[in-house]
Amino acid sequence: MNKQFFITTAIDYVNGQPHLGHAYEKIVADVIARSRRSLGQETFFLTGLDEHGQKIQQAAQAEGKSPQAYCDELAVDWKAFAKKLELTNDDFVRTTEPRHKEVVQAILTKLHAAGQFYRKTYRGFYSTKEETFLTDKDRRPDGTFDPAYGEVIELEENNYWFKLREQQQWLIDYLEKNPSFVAPDHRRNEVLGFLKNNELEDLCISRPAARLNWGIPLPFDKDFVTYVWFDALVNYISIPAAHGDATVLSALKNSQPSTLNPQLSLWPADIHVVGKDIVKFHAVFWPIMLKAMGLPLPKQILVHGWWQKDGAKISKSTGNIVDPIAVIDEWGLDAFRFYVLRELDIGPDGNWTDAGFKSRYQAELANGLGNLINRSLSMLKRYRNGVVPAKHDELAAAAAKAADETRALLKQNQLQSALQSIWGLVTRANQYVDQTKPFSLAKDPAQARRLDEVLYNLTETCRVLAVLLWSFLPGTAVKIYAQLGLTSAPDKLDNVTWGGLPAGHKIGEPAPLFPRKEER
Ligand code: MSP
Repeated sequence: MNKQFFITTAIDYVNGQPHLGHAYEKIVADVIARSRRSLGQETFFLTGLDEHGQKIQQAAQAEGKSPQAYCDELAVDWKAFAKKLELTNDDFVRTTEPRHKEVVQAILTKLHAAGQFYRKTYRGFYSTKEETFLTDKDRRPDGTFDPAYGEVIELEENNYWFKLREQQQWLIDYLEKNPSFVAPDHRRNEVLGFLKNNELEDLCISRPAARLNWGIPLPFDKDFVTYVWFDALVNYISIPAAHGDATVLSALKNSQPSTLNPQLSLWPADIHVVGKDIVKFHAVFWPIMLKAMGLPLPKQILVHGWWQKDGAKISKSTGNIVDPIAVIDEWGLDAFRFYVLRELDIGPDGNWTDAGFKSRYQAELANGLGNLINRSLSMLKRYRNGVVPAKHDELAAAAAKAADETRALLKQNQLQSALQSIWGLVTRANQYVDQTKPFSLAKDPAQARRLDEVLYNLTETCRVLAVLLWSFLPGTAVKIYAQLGLTSAPDKLDNVTWGGLPAGHKIGEPAPLFPRKEER
């Protein structure tokens, strides 16, 4: 049984509506998932929702709803959002589902029995917004706490704590021996720097039910619920367990009801895609939790940057937001997917501007790709009644170069560079039209043969582009194939090889892919 390529996203807090940052992360993971499938790898893509904790409890209260009813309502919007983005996720986890809660409790039982937890009374500062205890180390130079922590209160509480201190050295060694465990490099260096310069504090994994009851009860002490991050991280293995993953089930010693599925092997995850604000949870707490459970570590934590809009933080309260749904409704999903992937490499921070969005739409989609496909197919229709002429190889080398580069870049998750390489071919083919001037050739019967050659090169380039674009702009790729009169899907990179269109094949109807928009 081959292991599937297993990719996950962070699970979003269910309160609030999806914004640009959530959309970006999910699209990045979707492109990687699609590209692995297109490269021939069996793939499992998981995304979902984080539904427990104080934030959610308070938001539900504010609306006069029970937390579960509140989550159920919002989950409908989030699932619809995943569909709107055309995510190819194989499952969608909600942390309030029994299949997830059972695994969290099985793990807690196991770690408790293994002596990993202890009780301690802690008196100190607590951020209710972040649901976390703060120490003096978290103070800013002027003595205050970052406003991101919201209201900070003084609290004395007796809780269960998870021993992290003793785990510090192996984790440092692991990060040093496995340079690709956290990517990009500078994020790994940050984690290493943090681990080398600070003593790891033990992690408080419970919250008294008397103060906060919207959580998973500790199986060994009903007066407490599970800390929301301990609960949330477990989604990466609870869903494999629910699907019958042998590795996870054997670590849980079958203490929960899923049955083994011999056809499936997910854990360890190949990639956890996460934002830069939650690296510590994924690169420090999560590996330590996994080691304590006796499970292998994920292969990579792939960290993306944060989007701003017009150079300022995205924030609902200031109204500085990008509403992905509105953009998609106005410009189409693929225009949105294209802009975020082309504008921002995985790693640095990005800046959304409406002008930048429109300019890429106009230049790269409407005048670049859209124009190439539309004029190529329209000319074939007009001059050859839509029938593909004999194979000719003038653009074959350019197509092969783009294909080889794209394959290699996709294997390294270099999505932005892959798009640049694909656009190299778009530009080359548009230049080819300008140089060969098929519209002039068509006027001279003596040039009929040359026109056939040019039209083959252009039509076949359109087909190659559809295959290369499939992971990024799936709707566009499918439309190009349909306009080419092909009934198969452009979803396998092996089909990128030049010469796929046979002579005599009749194409379908050309139609503009990215209509030019009037300036308003
Ligand atoms: N629920 C936790 C994650 C638990 S994972 C086991 C969480 N949720 S979140 O809704 O706040 O954020 C979800 C993801 O969206 C995170 O990876 C976060 O970095 C990302 N983003 C939130 N705002 C963002 C931007 N402005 N830009 C890019 N990504 C951003 O954290």
